[in-house]
Amino acid sequence: MAGDNSKKIVFSGIQPTGTIHIGNYLGAIKNWAELQNNPDYDCIFFVVDLHAMTVPYDALHFQTTIHNAVLDNLAAGLDPKKCTIFIQSQIKEHSELTWILNTITPLGELQRMTQFKEKAEEQKNEINAGLLTYPVLQAADILLYKTDFVPVGKDQEQHVEFTRTLARKFNSKFGEIFKEPAALIPRVGAKIMSLTDPSKKMSKSHGAESYIALFDSDEAIRRKIKIAVTDSEKETRYDPKNKPAISNLITIYHLFADQPIKEIEKRYAGKGYADLKKDLAEVIIDYLKPLRQKREKLEKNPDYVKNVLEQGRQKAQKIAAATMLEVKKKTGLI
Ligand code: TYM
Repeated sequence: MAGDNSKKIVFSGIQPTGTIHIGNYLGAIKNWAELQNNPDYDCIFFVVDLHAMTVPYDALHFQTTIHNAVLDNLAAGLDPKKCTIFIQSQIKEHSELTWILNTITPLGELQRMTQFKEKAEEQKNEINAGLLTYPVLQAADILLYKTDFVPVGKDQEQHVEFTRTLARKFNSKFGEIFKEPAALIPRVGAKIMSLTDPSKKMSKSHGAESYIALFDSDEAIRRKIKIAVTDSEKETRYDPKNKPAISNLITIYHLFADQPIKEIEKRYAGKGYADLKKDLAEVIIDYLKPLRQKREKLEKNPDYVKNVLEQGRQKAQKIAAATMLEVKKKTGLI
C-alpha cells in the first residue's frame, strides 16, 4: 500500500490526449502492469491532465478525455487492488511544489530540453510558458511521492535526469528531503517508431496512419500495418540502424507475441514482407482483443471507476501533503 516505507516507490504517468497508442503501451503501460505485481514495489500511476494543458486541447470535452484515459489504463492492465491510480489536478500539491522548484530551476536548462524544442517546433504559434516549465511540473510529480523508480519510455529519460538534478539542488540548498529517482527504461520497446516514418518515434502528432491506437478497430490495424513503410530489400532482419522500419515491425511482433526476435527472423526469412505484415496485424489484434473487452465492461461501470479514483485521490493526497509540509518548513514558508 502507498506509504509503506519498506517498499520502493514506483511512480509514472500518462497524458490524457484522447488516444493511447501501442508506443505508450509497449514503452510504459505494459511495464507498469508487470511492476504492480512485484511485492517489493508500491506502485502509483496517474493521469497528467495539467501537463496536457500545455498543448492545444478542448476544454469542453476535457473531463471526458481525462476519464477515458483512466478507462484506457485500467483496460490495459492497471489493477487498483495492486496499485494507486489518481488524477494529477486533484492533488493541488503538484502545482504548489512546481512553483517552489521553478525558483531553483535555471532557465537555460529548460530551453535545452529535447521535448520542449520539439513541441515548440510543432506548435510555433502557441509556445506557452507551460511548455517550457513542463519538466518542472514533472519533477514535482515525481519528487512529491519520494519516488525510487520511474518506468517510462526513452523519450522521458531526460526529464527524469532533470528531476534528479533538481532533487540534488533542492537538498543541498534547503536540506535533505527528496530522493533521487531512477528511470526504468525497457530494454526493448523503449522507443517504438512511427509506421509511416521510422526515423521518428510513434506519436499522435504525425497523423492517424503513423500509429496504432490501443483501441483501434481490427480493420484499422490491418490497414495501418499493411501500408506501414518498409524498405527496398526483401530481407526480414532485425537491424535497427540499417533497417529501422522492419526492425520496428519485428520489435512490435516480438513484444506482442512474446516470441524471440531470432525466431521471428527465421520464420520470415526469404518470404518478403507481406507475410510478416499479415501475421503481425493478427498478432496485435489477438493481443488487444481482451483489452477492448475489458474496456467495454468498464464503460458500463462508472461507479467502479469513480470509486477507484476516489481511493487513489485519498492515498495520493496523504503522501503529497506530508511532503509539502516538509518542503514548506525547509524553505521557510512555515
Ligand atoms: P506521455 O503521455 O507522452 O507518454 C506516456 C508514456 O509513453 C511513453 N512513450 C513511448 N514509449 C515507447 N515508444 C514510443 N513511441 C512512445 N511514446 C510515448 C513515454 O515515454 C511515457 O512513459 N511527461 C510524461 C508524463 C508525465 C510523467 C510524470 C511520467 C508527467 N509527469 C511523472 C512519469 C513521471 C509523458 O510525456 O507522457
